[in-house]
Amino acid sequence: MSSEFTNTITYESDADGVVVLTMDDPNQSANTMNADYLASMERAVDRLEKEKNDITGVVLMSAKKTFFAGGDLGDILSIPSDGADLAVETVERVKGTLRRLETLGTPVVAAIGGAALGGGLEIALATHHRIVVDSPAVQLGLPEVSLGLLPGGGGVVRTVRMLGVATALTEVLLEGKRLRPGKALELGLVDELVAGPDDLLPAAKAWIAANADNPEAATQPWDRKGYRMPGGTPQSPALGATLPAFPAMLRKQLKGAPYPAPVAIMSAAVEGAGLDFAAAEKVEARYFAGLATGQTAKNMIRAFFFDLQKANGLARAHGSADREPIAKVVVLGAGMMGAAIAYVCAKAGMEVVLKDIDQAAAERGKGYSEKLVAKTVSRAAEGEARDRAQAKGDALLSRITPTTDASAASGAQAVIEAVFEDPKVKETVFAEIAPHIAPDALLCSNTSTLPITMLAEGVDRPADFIGLHFFSPVDKMPLVEIIKGASTSEDALGRALALVAQIGKTPIVVNDSRGFFTSRVIGTFTSEGMALLAEGVPAPTVEQASAQAGYPASVLALMDELTLTLPRKIRDETREAARAEGRDLPDHPGNAVLDTMIDQYDRKGRSTGAGFYEYDAAGKRVGLWPGLAEAFGGTTEIPLQDAIDRMLFAEALETVKCLDEGVLETTTDANVGSILGIGFPGWTGGVARYMDQYPGGLTGFVARADELAANYGERFTPPASLREKAAAGGTYEEVQP
Ligand code: NAI
Repeated sequence: MSSEFTNTITYESDADGVVVLTMDDPNQSANTMNADYLASMERAVDRLEKEKNDITGVVLMSAKKTFFAGGDLGDILSIPSDGADLAVETVERVKGTLRRLETLGTPVVAAIGGAALGGGLEIALATHHRIVVDSPAVQLGLPEVSLGLLPGGGGVVRTVRMLGVATALTEVLLEGKRLRPGKALELGLVDELVAGPDDLLPAAKAWIAANADNPEAATQPWDRKGYRMPGGTPQSPALGATLPAFPAMLRKQLKGAPYPAPVAIMSAAVEGAGLDFAAAEKVEARYFAGLATGQTAKNMIRAFFFDLQKANGLARAHGSADREPIAKVVVLGAGMMGAAIAYVCAKAGMEVVLKDIDQAAAERGKGYSEKLVAKTVSRAAEGEARDRAQAKGDALLSRITPTTDASAASGAQAVIEAVFEDPKVKETVFAEIAPHIAPDALLCSNTSTLPITMLAEGVDRPADFIGLHFFSPVDKMPLVEIIKGASTSEDALGRALALVAQIGKTPIVVNDSRGFFTSRVIGTFTSEGMALLAEGVPAPTVEQASAQAGYPASVLALMDELTLTLPRKIRDETREAARAEGRDLPDHPGNAVLDTMIDQYDRKGRSTGAGFYEYDAAGKRVGLWPGLAEAFGGTTEIPLQDAIDRMLFAEALETVKCLDEGVLETTTDANVGSILGIGFPGWTGGVARYMDQYPGGLTGFVARADELAANYGERFTPPASLREKAAAGGTYEEVQP
């Protein structure tokens, strides 16, 4: 928060009496709901009230790329746990100004040319008419729930009054969906679409002119006489009859995971729907304060936050922010990963040579991008917006050349290899491409487990060789794990960071190790799930425990997605590598389950039609395989909390080992990688943070780990480094906010 006030909203009137308010925070790249905004909006509304007799209408727009970026998350992080009054005060100031705007008695139009998410949409909802540019780049929504919050600027109160309780909850509030303009129009969240940004102001003024004699244009539906809430109020028989089903629906969504926001949102929506507007806003503020003062929201905000800070910070530290962007890249292997990597590179403007061993496979790889482009185009509204999306998609596709010919890679500044997971094949493809690419091209491998140092030995320039570990589906997953081999140069690391920034992903940087950080740690989660089965804990209990811990996918379902043969292959290779070094790895109790499933029952996962779950012909999960009880028993009872903790602790303890061994260099990498890459529960703020915030702090965590070790096995014994840190009374994370 700046101590000196900066006006962030300009006020201009035209000859027709239309006032254009332009939000343009000079201190930031996007408009946010900071102290300057609050004061600027108050001043603007003061002036509107004063001059309202000379005003025919108001247009609210933005000079930034986005309409408005939403609440200032930094401010929310600084709300102390006993700061409920402060939180209420802050949102009441926001609400008060917006309420004055919507009851000004003059039509107010929001002209939205960029994303309006969170606070941005809340501002727009307080206007009488919303006009939106119909571009796939424009998203509208209230994603607060994904940060452990609720929209506290009137977002709950207004969406409920606009759409009705049920629709507001399911379509907007509970999942925090980001809606395209077309979908927002269909729902009734916005009123009008225009083709481009230049059409916004004329359309806004036209609407004001057309409604000059219409008093309803200057009022919200809920402020008009005879207003009825769509779908009814909680007191009405129609909604009243369905209300009891809501908590069950929510339980289904949450599966017992400790996320407080959806519950608070539902309560604010339902309670507020039965009250008048002012009282409903008070209820919303109270629930907002409850979330904003809690730890979960802070953890989720931090996880959202520092990945951005980190990406920027790392790029700066390595001078990679100033590098020339990569113009041409060659992707080797057009399978599942190569095809998707080609898409994200082409989307970022790179020319992509997609090389496979046979032309049909290369073409199929490009087909993946064709499908994604077709999907994007079909989502754009018909007309000009669709033409633009089509042109953009065509340009993207024209940048991808599927081929078997290595010479097509001529001059490429980077190679990303994604062929079979076999060191020999990888060595061959790098050798084949070497004469054709730029002499100093960056050499990247997307191997999921093979040591980078070993693969680097197979190329002519090991200093330029680095691991670039993508996650599937590549176009959706934000993380890239960058792996330094023993001979990787700092320059290569800088170039890899720049490449990752260019494609808009978040990096973590790790040192070489089998499975790096992410595969190693997620492996302990899946192994623990199987160890529970091996002990005879019923499969539904195992699934329930992982869901209740807050994992986005339950453990056995996740195994089926990964395909059981993959972890087995990794396990066997890891064992063999250890043996070659004269070490024998302890046998994990989950191993037997993997072998039994594959060897005895031939159930290898979803891609083979049968795994821990049964699947229908379309590959849809039907239910847990009833044979599991016969295969592994299913009568053992252990406290559910033990099952939950075993999974979380297994991952946390493996993370400590990664830090001890120098595979990870910072606990920030641990937090970011665990949440963005491998689905460690978001409410924790990351795996390192989870240890610090365990009840009783790090000491409590160590004591519980000892207890788990005593009951379930040596693998839970805390490493000495952890015990020392706890004994010294410190925290595990280097930086505590
Ligand atoms: P895939 O089997 O779908 O694709 C491999 C592709 O490489 C095939 O199209 C194949 O024709 C091609 N290929 C084989 N030999 C070649 C050669 N000599 N020259 C050119 N192309 C050749 O495999 P997938 O899943 O895409 O995996 C590729 C790599 O990515 C592997 O190293 C894997 O470990 C790694 N990886 C996989 C992840 C996953 O979720 N599947 C995640 C992260 C990394």
